[in-house]
Amino acid sequence: ISATVTPDPEKRKPISDLLIGVFFEDINYAADGGLYAELLQNRDFEYTPADRKNRDSSWNSKHSWTTSGANLHFTIDSTTPLHINNAHYAVLNVQQPGSALINSGYDGIPLKKGDAYDCSLFVKNSDGKSRNLLVKLVNADGSILAQATIKTGSQQWKKYTTSLIAAADAKDARFELQPLSTGSVLLDMISLFPEKTFKNRKNGLRADLAETVAAIHPRFIRFPGGCLAHGDGVDNIYRWKNTIGPIEARKPQPNIWRYHQTVGLGYFEYFQYCEDIGATPLPVLAAGVPCQNSGLGANGFGQQGGIPMNEMDQYVQEILDLVEWANGPVTSKWGKLRAEAGHPAPFNLKYIGVGNEDLITDLFSERFTLIYNALKQQHPEITVIGTVGPFHDGSDYEQGWALASQLKVPMVDEHYYESPGWFINNPDFYDSYDRNKPKVYLGEYASHGNTLFNALAEALYLTNIERNGDVVHMASYAPLLAREKHTQWNPDLIYFNNTEVKPTVNYEVQKLFGNNAGTEYLPSVLTLSKEDEAVRKRLGISIVRDTTDGSIIVKLVNLLPVATSLKLDLTKLAPGSKAERTLLNGKPADRQNPVTVTTVAIGNVLEDTLLPYSFTVWKIHK
Ligand code: AHR
Repeated sequence: ISATVTPDPEKRKPISDLLIGVFFEDINYAADGGLYAELLQNRDFEYTPADRKNRDSSWNSKHSWTTSGANLHFTIDSTTPLHINNAHYAVLNVQQPGSALINSGYDGIPLKKGDAYDCSLFVKNSDGKSRNLLVKLVNADGSILAQATIKTGSQQWKKYTTSLIAAADAKDARFELQPLSTGSVLLDMISLFPEKTFKNRKNGLRADLAETVAAIHPRFIRFPGGCLAHGDGVDNIYRWKNTIGPIEARKPQPNIWRYHQTVGLGYFEYFQYCEDIGATPLPVLAAGVPCQNSGLGANGFGQQGGIPMNEMDQYVQEILDLVEWANGPVTSKWGKLRAEAGHPAPFNLKYIGVGNEDLITDLFSERFTLIYNALKQQHPEITVIGTVGPFHDGSDYEQGWALASQLKVPMVDEHYYESPGWFINNPDFYDSYDRNKPKVYLGEYASHGNTLFNALAEALYLTNIERNGDVVHMASYAPLLAREKHTQWNPDLIYFNNTEVKPTVNYEVQKLFGNNAGTEYLPSVLTLSKEDEAVRKRLGISIVRDTTDGSIIVKLVNLLPVATSLKLDLTKLAPGSKAERTLLNGKPADRQNPVTVTTVAIGNVLEDTLLPYSFTVWKIHK
């Protein structure tokens, strides 16, 4: 196949500088047991059967905790809690020292030789005695990798901390706590964090995962979901106020994906991470209705329907308060809390998503309209992103668009998970979108698989999205993270276990787009011979200019089993003479493919042979 490309820069148009971002949802243990660096599971003794499908009774306050030895009686109580939001705590009754309370973490605790681990816990010696607690990190073979003694003595709940330095690497160590005297001791919020978190933040993020996400160079992060944002029933809606402040005061709750959600990774941490990696924060809040306007699963946490209309004023205020918390001065009620948490400067919140894949019923519309109007009136500086239901067709989609157009919502969130064939065969999906209607945030999409073929179909589609970057302002592949063996949804962008991060080939595509974004689209005409015309849909091209540094970026996708020789006349684009050529290629069923980068001198004509099943990016420097 041979193709020639003729750019038409006269017809260039500005496109969104926020196009490629990430969708973070606490699904597949993406937060607890994932990005959130806490190493102990059920640190708060708040697991409950309601966390699990069919109310699994093994999911109770003792989950992940066991004891060793026969001289320690471990019970759970809730009569004098550390905080009302964390009712349960452990009571250890020691008949004779020597036995221990043990936590096995998330599939074991990974340790690195020489690294420090911050251990903290709340203790109450209700019997009035002073008491030493021995805390240890113990390897699977029983060898002790670190230990420290914590001297406790308060009759009230008091926080104690110590640091443990691992003597060796371990894949599946355990944490042990051994009271060194008899009697009864109360414990809660027993926590273990690597000292080395992303940017070394306390209550921080797992560095390797946070860095892998950051390497996409996402322009925004959407959080905390997905369905998680609107929850399984009214009482399960994610309420941002429950997720800020000291961790012991946060309100954990069942995760709609059927596990426990500590909210240790809460709004403060999400905003901080966005700032740390230069991404725009995009919180998505429920539109006053839970998933599909009801409870979805076996549990259905709380009432169905929506937040009662007579409680909606309060809910709307909660959303307005978020803007004050994120952006308000330190003298404001909510801005003060942000400052107290360590961030006096505003977080520069500009976008809020309202709703997620909701059915566009009256129940939804009434509540969405209230929220939207209040935000528009009180915070015109915030761009509200509405929702148009779960699919790219059907009645919710139509009604969602009708409502958003009528209210003049600036942007709407579209979601679609489709076959690679759909992404290949719909290159023109946004070509005819009305440019005067709301802009699009393609908040969730993926092509049903983690092969190179899937990834190239997504790359091809993204070249078409760039062409429509005046309509599609933001796009995020979904879901982002998945813990191996704890995955509720496939495919995902990045898989991981305790010690490894495994980016998929789809990730490589996102990374190439994220790192090669432009702010101006330069249209071009791709010419094929008559006989080759039939394969046009399997060739993708997008030329953009990054006006911040003047570079020109050419993205080329070849989804054909044969090579395509390509000639691109750059004369009208006035290119520089140095370029980097990045190549991703392989066999369609491959799941891991190397990305190679070469530096090449370039003239006015770019000639390339696009390998079968390949994605090539040329970055031509000014
Ligand atoms: O991305 C996984 C799920 O897919 C999201 O939670 C939901 O919005 C969609 O149905």
